[in-house]
Amino acid sequence: MMVSNSEPLPEGTVIMADNQFAGRGQQENTWYSEPGLNLTFSIFLKPSFLPINKQFMLNVAVSNAINKALGHFVADGVKVKWPNDVYYKDRKIGGVLIENSISGAAFKSSIVGIGLNVNQQKFDVEKTNVATSLYEILQHDVNLIELLAEVCSRIESEYLKLKTGNYNSLMKYYLENLYRFNELGLYRQNGEVFEATLTGITEAGQLILFTSGKERIYNFKEVEFLKD
Ligand code: BTN
Repeated sequence: MMVSNSEPLPEGTVIMADNQFAGRGQQENTWYSEPGLNLTFSIFLKPSFLPINKQFMLNVAVSNAINKALGHFVADGVKVKWPNDVYYKDRKIGGVLIENSISGAAFKSSIVGIGLNVNQQKFDVEKTNVATSLYEILQHDVNLIELLAEVCSRIESEYLKLKTGNYNSLMKYYLENLYRFNELGLYRQNGEVFEATLTGITEAGQLILFTSGKERIYNFKEVEFLKD
């Protein structure tokens, strides 16, 4: 692919596909999107200024940007669902997949892949209760290029915030827009279903749940959100 060709790829390069033949999602899932209807694109970044132990803050900056961009189209109800989903009410409207390349103690580059359901009107039967799109919410089409421009300009400004190292304000906004933050919900770990309140996210990006009188910390994939 062009990324591997001679010239170094400039930071901020956006690659958009109208149709992905082998779209990749989180956790080795495939990411299928109906051709031409949704937004699927990747941004090449070089966050060499970011300490490795602050890796998750790139995810936070990108999530905040998507949230703000969607807020331009949808008044209320857009949330970030830990760790990489974008939700509208109780349904998934998009996802983020960040692939970092690290050399020694520093970041070399990151490919931030974003998939958003925009004008898709029909979802597979098994997805109808979990997926939604901007069309389903607004009942009209949204111009993909306009949305892309909105998301990219928001990413640019959040990325600049990340550069200044203002992690507290990035995290504050993230928590304010986090799905289930400070709410009681159902979770499952190793087959055991339990009720807990999502009380925070650690600097390393782990989930903090308050359950049975104490806080517990979970890594990616260790716990599953269940619908009530
Ligand atoms: C998910 O929710 O599983 C993450 C979806 C991320 C998909 C994006 S679309 C652009 C880029 N190319 C891919 O194949 N995947 C990412």
